[in-house]
Amino acid sequence: MRKKKIITIVGARPQIIKASAISRAVALFFADQIDEVIVHTGQHYDENMSQVFFDELGIPSPDINLSVGSGSHGKQTATMIEGIEKVILDEKPNAIVVYGDTNSTLAAGVAASKIHIPVVHIEAGLRSYNKKMPEEVNRIMCDHVSSLLFSPTKTGVENLLKEGFKQEAAGNYTMDNPGVFHCGDVMYDNSIHFSEMSAQESTVLADNKLIEGEYILSTIHRNDNTDKPERITGIFAALQAISKENNVEIVLPLHPRTAKILTQNLPAELYLSIQSNPNIKLIPPVSFLDMIALEKNSKMVITDSGGVQKEAFFFNKACIILRPETEWIELVSCGSATIVGWSKDKIIEAYNRYSNDSSLRFPPVFGDGKAAEFICDMMLKHLS
Ligand code: UD1
Ligand code: UDP
Repeated sequence: MRKKKIITIVGARPQIIKASAISRAVALFFADQIDEVIVHTGQHYDENMSQVFFDELGIPSPDINLSVGSGSHGKQTATMIEGIEKVILDEKPNAIVVYGDTNSTLAAGVAASKIHIPVVHIEAGLRSYNKKMPEEVNRIMCDHVSSLLFSPTKTGVENLLKEGFKQEAAGNYTMDNPGVFHCGDVMYDNSIHFSEMSAQESTVLADNKLIEGEYILSTIHRNDNTDKPERITGIFAALQAISKENNVEIVLPLHPRTAKILTQNLPAELYLSIQSNPNIKLIPPVSFLDMIALEKNSKMVITDSGGVQKEAFFFNKACIILRPETEWIELVSCGSATIVGWSKDKIIEAYNRYSNDSSLRFPPVFGDGKAAEFICDMMLKHLS
């Protein structure tokens, strides 16, 4: 049988991490059937937002880097579309594989679908039902030009069915007759795979003088939070109050978007009191093995990240979600995560509630840790 050629598009930090699951499955089980070409759009480019993951997670270096960099949504996406179209025309793949909901995902979906190359969307079907979120627009548009849609959760499949997709569609899957699959979460695969390695290799707790089970891990990067002074202020005022009132340490690996905007969007007094609070540790972005160590050993997680919410759940930690809604509603419906937005009072109330709750449940809703193998199998079966 002739090998199938896929082009994997990555750009933002979480996509590089997600792609490692498929690259690993290809290398281990499908090397004689699948050729993978990795294209990095260059959406994330700092060493600690990109290269560190290739080095640490054993992902082959990108074959092509479009070096698009930062910019407005329109300019960034348009430059990516132009670059990806050229790569597809040169490489003539059987399909392109895209992850999640970033501008890199959207650009690849547009470029490939317009020249009739099947799009395989991993993490399809997720919806926040808030189209002001750039990611919601990206994921809806990408789903609707995809030929194979792999949803990590049952809710994701149900969302697609509501939009007219058919799970029982048969035959040759195309953009007009797409195939929808419930496959589990490639990030669950990764959390299992890298957990032991993280325990052996990460020194992040010692480096930051953190004590197992006694600190809070927090990440903040959504534009909806960082770019609105009242929201970022509500969040940091809550973190400051929690750390002071409970004498608890909070470690925040800061996304560059957040690091750049803190002095601008926080009141000077709050910014200075955070800087001088030894219990609040603002640190640069960490590697994935370090992040797993921080998640696994934390007391609780406070975040607006999609990925970090889920990883908190994988490692049986309560999670306070700094957003008005979430695509990962399973976390909230079982009670182990709670949506609070950016309200100082609600964040503090959720912290106090979870600090005294030892009855949290973490049911297995993200598959069996073999989502990537399933996806590769289905690609081989259904891509011509
Ligand atoms: C993007 C995704 C978001 C995802 C996040 C993961 C979109 C619309 N958003 O958001 O869904 O959750 O990645 O982290 O695609 N910057 C740097 N160095 C870098 C990368 C970014 O300094 O390596 C700074 C730049 O000032 C840039 C800003 O961060 O303007 C935002 O970067 P961008 O990729 O546009 O969006 P993210 O907030 O990272
Ligand atoms: N992550 C990481 N280092 C960090 C922060 C996050 O390795 O300093 C990982 C995290 O474990 C998760 C992914 O990056 O796998 C989430 O990325 P992010 O929060 O940037 O984006 P989102 O998931 O919200 O799209």
